Formats: sequence, structure tokens, C-alpha cells
Amino acid sequence: MALNFIAQPATQFSGEVRVPGDKSISHRSVMLGSIATGVTRVSGFLSGADAIATMRAFRAMGVRIEHVDDRLEIHGVGREGLSAPEEEIDLGNSGTAMRLMMGLLCGQGFDVGLSGDASLSSRPMGRIVDPLSSMGAKFQTSGGKAPLRIFASGDNAGALRAIEYVLPMASAQVKSAILLAGLYAHGRTCVTEPAPTRDHTERMLRGFGYDVQTDGARICLSGGGALTATNIDIPADISSAAFFMVGTCISPGSQLCLKHVGVNPTRIGIINILRKMGASIEYENQKEMGGEPVADIVVKASTLKGINIPEQWVPLAIDEIPVIAVAAACAQGETRLTGAEELRVKESDRIMAIVSALTALGIDARETPDGFVIQGKGGAEQGPPAATVFNTGEVLSHDDHRIAMACSIASLRADGPILIHDCENVTTSFPGYIEMANSLGLSLSVMGS
Ligand code: S3P
Repeated sequence: MALNFIAQPATQFSGEVRVPGDKSISHRSVMLGSIATGVTRVSGFLSGADAIATMRAFRAMGVRIEHVDDRLEIHGVGREGLSAPEEEIDLGNSGTAMRLMMGLLCGQGFDVGLSGDASLSSRPMGRIVDPLSSMGAKFQTSGGKAPLRIFASGDNAGALRAIEYVLPMASAQVKSAILLAGLYAHGRTCVTEPAPTRDHTERMLRGFGYDVQTDGARICLSGGGALTATNIDIPADISSAAFFMVGTCISPGSQLCLKHVGVNPTRIGIINILRKMGASIEYENQKEMGGEPVADIVVKASTLKGINIPEQWVPLAIDEIPVIAVAAACAQGETRLTGAEELRVKESDRIMAIVSALTALGIDARETPDGFVIQGKGGAEQGPPAATVFNTGEVLSHDDHRIAMACSIASLRADGPILIHDCENVTTSFPGYIEMANSLGLSLSVMGS
């Protein structure tokens, strides 16, 4: 049975919350903790379906991972201690799990099969297979996609060759897969990025005592070293906080404090973009926790104006673009996104999905090959903000968690209910979304069909 959301119109969005843990950091904590020596303790782990899929995968490869109080304890087996899983590993909806594990597993001494749901099975894996194959890894894919098989590359360390690789696209997943394979390669592996992308892999490897050198856009490490267990405090996920930031900005009179959010400079595109649109967003209690910058974020309702989104901010806001589109619809004037073709190969084609949803809600929005153009309905410049922006309507999430949540935020400026189809995957990144969103002012409920 499909799980749909119905969002009744709401007007206020205020309070103080800590959203669930960062998904990217959660995946990496299990992967690196598993191949470290000693026990890694992780607090703030995201218990969403994606990160749980990674945890199950490493358990299936012989790693003991336990819940102790609110923390995960990962009993690392060392760099060469993973064992062959009995069955193919199902990674559900998670592109990060699959792509990073392709890197980590291609240097092992056993074969392993990886599969996923329909969305994951439609996403390109050639971008990982190509560089890793040039390192000597062996794969069999289904036409460049999952399900796929990784073949043993012999005697672990040294079986792979280091490479010097220039990324053809700005992708932290591809960068990370190559660096993780580099741990098992003979020599020094270097990756050069066309634009900065999230650097959690580099930061966390250093936290495990592994030497990673970053020189501008080029990141290098040498294979054959060891990782030493550490403690990891995972901050709240800025990608989840983004929905609530936009909800507050577009709801006159609202104010919100988002606690302990990761504000790594490679993740704050959403803040840069909303501020450029005129949003009031401030940091409080800034600190560094285990190599990652963290802050409380205070957001106030603001009159937003349309902008041309600077292309250099796109990779830093890549997962937040759907909800930025909702902000753009509530702004005064036009917002233009370019240089975002990567959005077409996310959990859904997010350019198509968000433009279709906004159009269904009465917004003048149009796709371009690498972005969109949205005419804001936020009222005339200098004039009062328009009371409602979105028409009541029905939208498709295309099974994409971030499209579903972005559409639910539109209910804060809607003239009637919004029905959002196929919202099961919201739990991949944001378990407890409905309860938390409703505690702040949304009026969301679930409707089966
Ligand atoms: C991620 C990288 C990004 C992002 C994804 C998580 C990561 O993907 O969209 O949600 O954790 O490395 P790309 O590398 O495909 O841009």
C-alpha cells in the first residue's frame, strides 16, 4: 500500500528542535569504524533506512555493531578483517552506501554482490566503475547500473594500483569511492575536483589517524596505512534542517532555532543561497566537534527575493535544491538555477520532479537542461507579501524523500490541502519527520491508498 501525505494549510512555523543526525557522516562512521582497529563509539547516528542499510551491510561482513545507550559501538575488524557476506547486500534507496562501498570493497579478498530498490537500480554507476577499474578493480554491472558484483582483487592491500584522477563531475560520492579504494591500493591515489564538494570522508579519515593531504582541489592519500578507532559525534543534518529553514523563512511572524547542526563549509550552500535571497539566518554556539564545525542556527521569517543562484554554490546545496525551489516560489521576482544537471540523476530526476510539483500547485516554473526558472509569487517588490502562494493540489514525489518533504513545506503558504503521493522514503533520511514538522506548526498526516 502506498503511503501518501496530506498537508493541510498552516501559517506559523516556530520553535526549537534538533533534527536527526547527518546522513553522509553516519554512513562514513560505520564504514571507517568497521575497518579501523579498536572500538569506535558514535553518538548522533541517523537511524534512517539508508544509514541502517550500511550498518546491516557491515554486520553481514562480520563486524559487531551494537547499540549501547544512545550510541553505536562499532567493533572494528581492521583494514583487512572484513569477511565475505553470505548473500548479496541490499542497500535499498542509498546511492551513498552503494557508491562508497564499491570503493571500499573493491580491494577485498572476496566477491560481493550489491543491489538496491528501483530508484537506486536506475542510477549511474559507471562514474564509479570507470576510475576503480583503472585501479585494477573488477565489476560486473547490469548495463552500468545495479545490481552489480564486485570481484575479489586478490590479496587485499597492494592488489589495486593508485591513480591520479580528475573528476568529470563535482561528486563527493565518486571522490570518496576512489579515496576508499586508495586505502587498499599500492601507491599514492590523488583526486582533483572541478568544484568543492562535501569533505566528510577526508575529515573523518584524519579523525581515524589516516594521513590525507588536501592541496586546493587535489586530495591525496597513500594505501596500506591503518585506521585507529575514535569517538564520533554526528551533528544534526543540515540537509534535513533545510526544510525547516525554508518553512520559517516563508511563514510571516515565525522564528526557529535548529540545534547542533553541521555547518561544514562544503555543506552550507542552503544558507548562502537563502541569505542572498534576503533570509535572516544567524549562527549561535559555534564550535568544532570531532573535526566538523557545528552551530545552532536561528532563522526568522523574511521577505525573500528571486536570485540567479551562483553556480559555485550548487554542489554545496545539491540536496537542498528542491526546498530552495519552494522558497523561490514564495519570493518576489524570478529565480534561476543553472549548472545543476547532476540533479537529474539523484533519487529521482529532481529538476523534473520539483518543477512538475510546483506547476501542479499553480506556480510558473520551467525546466532547463541544467536547472530551472521559477517566477516567485511572493508579491510585488516593496509591497506586502502575498498571503497564499500555492494552490491546493496533488503532487507526485517520484518516491523521492526530498521532493516529498519540500512539497509538505509548501503547505505553509497554500490556499488548501496538498496531497503528496508515495512518501515511504521520507524515512531514508528523516525518521520522525511528520511528528517534528507538526510540533513546529505544520499540519501533516498520513493517508494510505
Ligand atoms: C553524498 C554526496 C552527494 C549527495 C548525496 C550524499 C555523500 O551525491 O547528493 O545525498 O554523502 O557523499 P553526489 O556525490 O552524487 O553529488
